[in-house]
Amino acid sequence: MSTIEAAPSRFLTGVFEPVHDELDVQNLSVTGTIPAALDGVYLRNGSNPQFGPLGAYHWFDGDGMVHGVYLSNGTASYRNRWVETPGLRHEREAGNALFGGIMNFQLPPAELIAECGVMKNAANTNIVRHAGKILALWEGGFPSELTWNLDTVGLWDMGGRLEGAFTAHPKWDAKTGELMFFGYTGLQKPFLRYHVADRTGALVHSCEIEIPHGVMMHDFVTTERFSLIWDMPAVVELEYMMSGKGMWQPDFGARIGVLPRYGTNADVRWFEIDPCYVFHFMNAWDDGDNIVVLGCRIPSVDLNFDSDDAPDPMADNSGIGLYKWTIDLTAGTVKEEQVSSGFQEFPRVNDAFVGYQSRYGHLSATLDRAAVGGFDAVMQYDLATGERTVNKLAPGKTTGEAVFAADPNGTDERDGWVLTYEIDVTDGSTDLLILDGHDITNEVARVHLPRRVPPGFHGNWLPA
Ligand SMILES: [Fe+2]
Repeated sequence: MSTIEAAPSRFLTGVFEPVHDELDVQNLSVTGTIPAALDGVYLRNGSNPQFGPLGAYHWFDGDGMVHGVYLSNGTASYRNRWVETPGLRHEREAGNALFGGIMNFQLPPAELIAECGVMKNAANTNIVRHAGKILALWEGGFPSELTWNLDTVGLWDMGGRLEGAFTAHPKWDAKTGELMFFGYTGLQKPFLRYHVADRTGALVHSCEIEIPHGVMMHDFVTTERFSLIWDMPAVVELEYMMSGKGMWQPDFGARIGVLPRYGTNADVRWFEIDPCYVFHFMNAWDDGDNIVVLGCRIPSVDLNFDSDDAPDPMADNSGIGLYKWTIDLTAGTVKEEQVSSGFQEFPRVNDAFVGYQSRYGHLSATLDRAAVGGFDAVMQYDLATGERTVNKLAPGKTTGEAVFAADPNGTDERDGWVLTYEIDVTDGSTDLLILDGHDITNEVARVHLPRRVPPGFHGNWLPA
């Protein structure tokens, strides 16, 4: 397989440089003691292009590669595999890239469009489990099903019933086993569909939701009663993506659509908010006649991540940080409040609390932007007190999303461990950190990986 050609993107070099091999390594070296209750696998997906790009490269374009750290009886092993999507299989046959990307849109060879669409389903954004299926997700297409050992089974179209795309950020309800999700497109109407799958993976509810423009809708939230659609003006219709008009169109306004879990387009109540963008929400829940939502707000969005014009994370009150929206269903109002300032992202809670009131959230934070050019701390935010507990990494180390692995014997929201990679930006050495859920400054164990894991996107802890 070829290696990546030089290209002017920082996401192809240094700590982000794609890795080129698939490893299986047993009995990893460990500092500290892996809790015996951690029996399962921490999977993390990310962008890892196998072939050099056809033009300008964007971090979101690369082929999905899943890195797995398997923990059992206090021991650890590592395995990584590309997600073998239809597009990647064709590229392997050709020996080079065949698809453009989001900064470099171009039609693939005509014979591939019927099978693969106009963009490659990169399966690179998230890795989740539902109804016993492990699914690598990419928000423009179907999920890719993997085995426990990370072999690719193929695309999952929900028995032929799924129409359109499947978000990389579905939301589960731990009490009912339902999975709520949506799919968007900027290519044609309907721009948005909303779905519910039951605990067996059967698609039990689907409907089209009318929105005025095709917008990048990366995440959403659900509560016990409602699902909330966030129509924010990051327009992905081709006219805006390719004409130079730009995707950010604040004049189009922004609104939150609230619908019952099994509601349809006619049931949606829209609430106007000031234009902003939220890549990731922390959680949401019902509070009487209110709905409370927490998420990481930015004032606008620009996908040109290679630009130096990205928001300054140290600018405390510029509309950046963890925000709380309170939607009053009786009064028809939305209150927006900043609850934690500074650049924070990848918010997560204990999965058992998704859609229900949670007290603690975990985030990746950038405290010293100049130091490593990325996240340099793990943060636990206490919504009850406003206290932020920060585990600042050693100099030269960076991290990504922090995932909560619940103690199967636990009862408290924080009974468990926070898992995240710590990557040395100079020599690439990578450790999996296992932090105490009650005190994330307490490092319980550190698993030394046999290779650099490039910073990536989302992961999950899957109990055995
Ligand atoms: Fe995401």
